[in-house]
Amino acid sequence: MWWSLSVLALATLTPRVIAQCQPLSSLTFQYQPSLFDGVGARVIQNRLTKPRGIKFDSAPNPNLLVVQAGQGIVALTPNVAGCAGWTKKAIVSNAALNHGLEINGNTLYASSDDQVYAWSYNPSTATVSGNPVTIVRGMSNGAAGHATRTLLLQPASGSEPAYLIVSRGSTDNYDFGCSDANTGRCQIRRFPLSPAPPNGGYAWNSGELLAWGLRNAVGIALDSKVTRVWEVENSSDNIRWKGQDVHNDNPSEELNVVYLAKRGTPNGGNYFGYPSCFTSWGYMNGLQTGDQFSFEMEQGGGGNATRNDAWCSNVSNVMRPSLSFQGHSAPLDIKFYTPPSDTTSALNPQWSGHAFVSFHGSWNRQPPTGYGVVRVPFTNGVPTAPSNSNAGYSFIVQAPDLSKCGAGQCIRPAGLTFDSRGRLLVTSDTTGEIFIVGPPNGLS
Ligand SMILES: *[C@@H]1O[C@H](CO)[C@@H](O)[C@H](O)[C@H]1NC(C)=O
Ligand SMILES: *[C@@H]1O[C@H](CO)[C@@H](O)[C@H](O)[C@H]1NC(C)=O
Ligand SMILES: *[C@@H]1O[C@H](CO)[C@@H](O)[C@H](O)[C@H]1NC(C)=O
Repeated sequence: MWWSLSVLALATLTPRVIAQCQPLSSLTFQYQPSLFDGVGARVIQNRLTKPRGIKFDSAPNPNLLVVQAGQGIVALTPNVAGCAGWTKKAIVSNAALNHGLEINGNTLYASSDDQVYAWSYNPSTATVSGNPVTIVRGMSNGAAGHATRTLLLQPASGSEPAYLIVSRGSTDNYDFGCSDANTGRCQIRRFPLSPAPPNGGYAWNSGELLAWGLRNAVGIALDSKVTRVWEVENSSDNIRWKGQDVHNDNPSEELNVVYLAKRGTPNGGNYFGYPSCFTSWGYMNGLQTGDQFSFEMEQGGGGNATRNDAWCSNVSNVMRPSLSFQGHSAPLDIKFYTPPSDTTSALNPQWSGHAFVSFHGSWNRQPPTGYGVVRVPFTNGVPTAPSNSNAGYSFIVQAPDLSKCGAGQCIRPAGLTFDSRGRLLVTSDTTGEIFIVGPPNGLS
């Protein structure tokens, strides 16, 4: 009995690592997307299980680490001898991991709905060693709540330590606890990585509050000067305003900027309004795109009458988005583009500093929207389009027939990352694919 149990335990702890090669020539899109702005795209891996967060490590021939939601982490390595494609191996088996992934040299971070874990990681062998330690704990929103906890490394700078920035969403479509920062939900916090986090990890609410009133800020990215975090927010379904059903186009999804230095406004400059205030898309009843409207009086029984349209519109109370996206686009990741010095196989170098955002796609809109990747032009570190524009971005890749998306016959972009050649890699969770976007002659 004892003997067979320990053999079992050993077998679970040391899974056999099987590296699998997928030749590039064998791969095609399950559902071919349309391509715009002169880009090409090709699948580099398929048959994954819900691939979400992706990131390259620092090995000389970098490995692409991928979170498979509900399974763990795999490493994909290009150009291994004998494989004309990418070689895959599982490196962490943990069914609780679902999206978040970061790498800081020899440390690998990943998240469940409740915890952020860290492993000691060797990029040259793409292996972890030992058990993970908990860095942050106490983030669960319960079984029905938004479950992803996106991770973003803020590198050490001068006397400032490195931080791990973590985003946590709401329990529900409307989560009325979120106008109180102490609930810990609908917000972004950061945690110093040195000195070492306490045993058992930081309690969530002990992290520094960077922003709150964000329904679900799934995508977060630092700007090049590391003074601001940009976040893309997935906003609410089934919204009403002044008794009218306005949900098909409202509220906007948001591109927000979060200042790392606190500003002198009553809410520290970092309250974004959810669930009291929402952002308008289009021009309903005199509101422009980007204007704030109140949801308080639409709730059964009425809400807080002080937080009316005028209160929501006052920038001393609520931060406005830098840019709006079509309601229900479901933005899940954002990455900024820095072209490499050799641009022969890179995306258009004129897109330097532009943001790329994955749109997972809608279910609560007719006709559907999203199901692609967009480019958001930036000029001098801010979106080129004014904040009241609803044309501040354009698709580079999108499913060609959105009417098929409800039946699952479309790409569903989730995680994004750039490679060293200036090409964008994209995970599509429901189709189990990773594809690469670059110039048509730079995809091999
Ligand atoms: C209503 O909102 C105002 C403005 O944020 C706040 O000062 C007040 O405490 C809120 N009232 C209640 C009952 O929560
Ligand atoms: C906006 O809010 C601030 C702070 O509460 C207040 O001082 C100011 O009068 C408000 N502005 C308007 C136009 O209501
Ligand atoms: C995004 O919003 C959609 C509705 O538009 C919702 O069904 C989905 O759960 C949200 N996903 C995330 C990750 O917030």
